[in-house]
Amino acid sequence: METSIEQLRPGQAVNGTFALRVKKLLPLRSGAGHYLAVVLGDRTGQMEGRIWESVSEIDHSCRVGDIVNIQGQVVEYNGKAQIQISSMSVCRDYEADPGRFIPSSKIDLDTAREQLFSIVKALHDPHLKNLLSLILADNDFLNALFKSPAAKHNHHAVIGGLLEHSLGIANAAVGLAAVYPQIDRDLLVTGALLHDIGKVEEYRLNSHIDFTDEGRLLGHIILGVRLLDSYIDQLPGFPEELRTKLLHMIVSHHGQYELQSPKRPKFLEAAVLHHLDMIDAAIDMFNSAVENRAAGDDHWSRWVKGLDRFVFCK
Ligand SMILES: [Fe+2]
Ligand SMILES: [Fe+2]
Repeated sequence: METSIEQLRPGQAVNGTFALRVKKLLPLRSGAGHYLAVVLGDRTGQMEGRIWESVSEIDHSCRVGDIVNIQGQVVEYNGKAQIQISSMSVCRDYEADPGRFIPSSKIDLDTAREQLFSIVKALHDPHLKNLLSLILADNDFLNALFKSPAAKHNHHAVIGGLLEHSLGIANAAVGLAAVYPQIDRDLLVTGALLHDIGKVEEYRLNSHIDFTDEGRLLGHIILGVRLLDSYIDQLPGFPEELRTKLLHMIVSHHGQYELQSPKRPKFLEAAVLHHLDMIDAAIDMFNSAVENRAAGDDHWSRWVKGLDRFVFCK
């Protein structure tokens, strides 16, 4: 059985495969030479490690993002577990299984699938219903949606995070449309499910969540516009105004020019979608901050970059 980070305890010998998350070459205190400070991780967490032997050889052969085989011993240093690593080498024949190195969303996938299809079934607008039915009948897209993260770091940065995020907003949209009848429920729900579809092409999974070249060069808003347009092109008779409104919801969902929205929301459903997007992301970031707070500190989270603050956890 694979050794996981969360199982490691001081005194234990380690012989396992991990993702190399951080690697720093640092000078020895004596000034005579260097050592490597590394962080190793898997889906259960991460742990610091130190390498004192064959330093430059290992430094040149292993890169951050590599999957590495390590041997060593877990010790306690400054009250924290740390691995004294005796050997580390790149694991070249490893069949990348992202689920071993990247955490997964806690949502139940079968329930999520049911929810997704029942939301589409409940739509009244025949064009929006056709469009979503076409997209969900695309198995390649559906598989990508069930795996894709919604971000590299900030919110829903887990396998299946995009689905969790999109469903969260769609469910909130249904509730909000019941409170405010002036909202076009079908348009808002469709926008909720589609606003981030470009993310299936923006990220790739290996030992960590990374950007694809297209993701770096174009970003998920442009990729989403391209993807949505290609689906609508397959539906003869799809109203042009409705196409433009859906594209606008993708284009404007970040709300502000400074946040890479080429346009700000220009109708009610687009504006509501932007706010629901912010709410759903914030809920995930507050939740994760509480869940991931450092052991022994139950009052305050670590610094949360996406929220630009510490979170009070009581
Ligand atoms: Fe987005
Ligand atoms: Fe989003």
